[in-house]
Amino acid sequence: MEINGKNQGEFEKYKLEVIESVDAVQERIREEKEHRGYIDFSSYPSEELQKEVKEVVQESLGVQDVGEIGLSVPPAHISGDFALEVFYLAKKLGEKPNVLAKKIVDGINEHEMDLIKDASLAGAFVNVETHKEKLYQEILSKILELGERYGESNINAGKVAIIDYSAPNIAKPIGVGHLRSTIIGQALSNIYHETGYSVIRDNHLGDWGTQFGSLIYAYKEWGDEKKIAENPIGELKDLYVKFHQFSEEHPEVKDNARELFARLEKKDPELVAYWKRFRDLSLKDFERVYKQLGIEFDTNIGESYFTEQADKLVGECTAKGLCRKDEASEAIVVDQMGEIPSFLLKKQDGSSLYLSRDLATLQFRVNTFNPDTILYVVGSEQDLNFKQLFELGKRAEYLPDGVEAKHIGFGMVLRDGKKMSTRKGTLIELEDLISQSVEKSREILLKKNPDADSQEINKVSEIVGIGAIIYNDLRQSKTKNISFDWEKMLDLEGGSAVYLQYSYVRINSILKKLTEAYGEIDFDKLEKSNISFTNKSEFDLAKKLMMFPEVIKRAQETDSPHHICGYLEELASLFNSFYNEVSILRTEDKKLRESRVALSKSVALVIKKGLSMLSIKVPEKM
Ligand code: ARG
Repeated sequence: MEINGKNQGEFEKYKLEVIESVDAVQERIREEKEHRGYIDFSSYPSEELQKEVKEVVQESLGVQDVGEIGLSVPPAHISGDFALEVFYLAKKLGEKPNVLAKKIVDGINEHEMDLIKDASLAGAFVNVETHKEKLYQEILSKILELGERYGESNINAGKVAIIDYSAPNIAKPIGVGHLRSTIIGQALSNIYHETGYSVIRDNHLGDWGTQFGSLIYAYKEWGDEKKIAENPIGELKDLYVKFHQFSEEHPEVKDNARELFARLEKKDPELVAYWKRFRDLSLKDFERVYKQLGIEFDTNIGESYFTEQADKLVGECTAKGLCRKDEASEAIVVDQMGEIPSFLLKKQDGSSLYLSRDLATLQFRVNTFNPDTILYVVGSEQDLNFKQLFELGKRAEYLPDGVEAKHIGFGMVLRDGKKMSTRKGTLIELEDLISQSVEKSREILLKKNPDADSQEINKVSEIVGIGAIIYNDLRQSKTKNISFDWEKMLDLEGGSAVYLQYSYVRINSILKKLTEAYGEIDFDKLEKSNISFTNKSEFDLAKKLMMFPEVIKRAQETDSPHHICGYLEELASLFNSFYNEVSILRTEDKKLRESRVALSKSVALVIKKGLSMLSIKVPEKM
């Protein structure tokens, strides 16, 4: 991108940094596509099972491809290992559900299969019995074989997703508003990666806009270097607030601020130097929080990178007749497009706007990374903004048909049932929230274990406290509002991260006792044919484990991390039922005992892996 002579310097340097980070990402993606070694989704037992059913269904109905067969785990009172619901299929084929179900049952019973034993009719449902022992062996051996990679797949192998999340505005503290984007975006990045996507995590920082005119004005008037050194973001925020208060009585300063921003847009070196300083200070501050949350971005390409290109694109759009200069106001306007109301693309003073910078960002992303998918993880209040962006992007051909752009909206963060607001002083800063959560976790952990080592407690309460915040955000559908109910967030009995962390630690300590009693098991040498079980609770647990890859797939397809949470809680609770019923320690038969160890180890592995997909850590002890 071109920068005229006198503007070189700070801004030029910043652009070079961006280009370097972009090169590194391109290199990584090339590498990943070639060498990642994708795991074949169809090799999972859940898929093999479905394939058997599907083939029989297709054959007995004389249909080429029936599409996805949904096998589900039926409620406890129903016999059968899995149930097949035929309503949807019947509708598609124009048959009566019970007639269709009968045909499927007969088809299954006429065939010899590897995993499926037989089927029976239950109204419009088909109940499916499996060769339980064989299926059980397949499930456990698959998990032991893949270890921490269990669940990963090649469903989206070779595809690229750009995930735009967090994106706080510089010179302001990260508040809980950006917390949700940060947490949801991070989880989605991990989930997409699991299904084979190469993921680019981009932090589209709010580092440009008229507010920098105000901030620079305030800094020049009232800035105090000593205070800034002590508490950079706090001081910048105070300056910003002071400007607004002052401008209520002295509206003329708003013009000064506008003028400063216009000069910044022209990359006046003096103003760029201020801006760069605010940006650096802010990023350093954000990094602290990101580190605590375990978040790393591939790129931090803020809005500032796109101001010149935004201007160019506005020109292009005008030439294409997609926008026009409004005679009265001199601003550039996009007229109503179908349902989408008219909006501005450039202000009357010629400054770029959030939306025009986003348009340039979109074009840049498409041209630079050739993505299949772009996710914008931003609060639902920006819904209209993204409708406008995508529609204009399509019409202007910056967003081609092959690229899917999606706005991933989410609900608000409430406090005492109300939306938080900076002006009313009800906004909680993210760092305060985290330390509050860590503190409460410490209290709970100490109550449970009063003479724990204090260093150990510090470590664990950080893991538990941060996990609680993340889980609270992800456990329900993202469109719902969230609030901070500490009792629920730190409930050891369920519905919380700490419940899962505790389940994990408990399984580990059980495994440790077993090792002490019977010695280490070499799972590589555990023969598939030696894996066995006796109780229904064991088989139920294995069936649940089998569904993990399917749950990840569903979470990705629906952009909904909460499916992972619900799944993990069910898994942990099934483990508890199993453990209440069966004593592994007192299992005499060596093969059965080792199978039970393998089962428990698999559960621990999946809990740890599932939580890590949400960026929640597990302690080894607690
Ligand atoms: N900084 C913006 C805000 O706080 C969010 C940016 C989201 N990403 C985007 N490409 N618009 O509202």
